Amino acid sequence: MVFDTDLSRSETVAVLRLAEKMRRFPARYRKALEGRVLALVFEKPSLRTRVTFEVAMKTLGGDSIFLDCRGEPLGQREPIADVARNLERWVDGIAARTFRHSTVEELARWADVPVINALSDRAHPCQALADVLTLQSVFGRLKGLKLAFVGDGNNVAHSLLLTGAKLGLHVAVATPPSYEPDPEIVALATDLARPSGATVRVLNDPEEAVAGAHAVYTDVWTSMGSEHEAQVRRKRFRPYQVTEKLFGKARPDAVFMHCLPAHRGEEVADAVIESPRSVVFDQAENRLHAQKALLWMLLAQDRGKAAKK
Ligand code: CP
Ligand code: NVA
Repeated sequence: MVFDTDLSRSETVAVLRLAEKMRRFPARYRKALEGRVLALVFEKPSLRTRVTFEVAMKTLGGDSIFLDCRGEPLGQREPIADVARNLERWVDGIAARTFRHSTVEELARWADVPVINALSDRAHPCQALADVLTLQSVFGRLKGLKLAFVGDGNNVAHSLLLTGAKLGLHVAVATPPSYEPDPEIVALATDLARPSGATVRVLNDPEEAVAGAHAVYTDVWTSMGSEHEAQVRRKRFRPYQVTEKLFGKARPDAVFMHCLPAHRGEEVADAVIESPRSVVFDQAENRLHAQKALLWMLLAQDRGKAAKK
């Protein structure tokens, strides 16, 4: 699963259903991935993604191996195609966190085992799975919910647009001018929204996006790899902070969401992220359940290496 669109609507619903079962009855799945090994290939730092993938494999009876590529991006020492064709001989799946999206695509092109995007500059599909799982737990449904994303229109916003639209959520993204989501992604999300009855809006006015929303979501202003732009971004994004006033434009039962890590006083006010309406740690917990379900779907079925040989 390199990109959100790699899972159909029904596959996504199946992941969510299984994730819910795994959350409620973890013991039932203790041996579900016995003997399977996942390689984690990370070019960027991580707390949540690394720990949840590692714990997911262990609690499913499998194991994981972490390849720290923070000092040496993939493709530098040897071609990505060779890395993929080595790893596939030893492991049953690869989760990759990369700077360039094309790196994950290249791994998937060459590896004969499932490749999971653990965040690239274009998408963060595992995050979006956990986020919709969180919304489903809070509201008991997904279809028709209004999700407002305020901030940088990049990887996290992209995945929320695609996964949200696929599942019938109305997604409104408000960004500063010239930080809008990629128009190609918006067009894809709009196509996905049609059959699901959802709507997709891209705006520059945060209040308009947040008005009447069930969930208000934000992400860091400066993503990993864009640190050199931090100063400019702090100025441009200032009016897009999720303050108590802005959050107050949402529904009274709205939740605040953030993929984390969060920068209090930048994209979100401390009072909002620490409020009882904040579900940020539920999102983090749900990374585990969603990824366990995804791993089971990808590694326990015929697509796994063991089944191919
Ligand atoms: N939300 C998320 O992906 O967190 P990490 O960067 O810590 O993995
Ligand atoms: N947009 C952020 C998400 C971190 C989980 C980044 O890419 O750094």
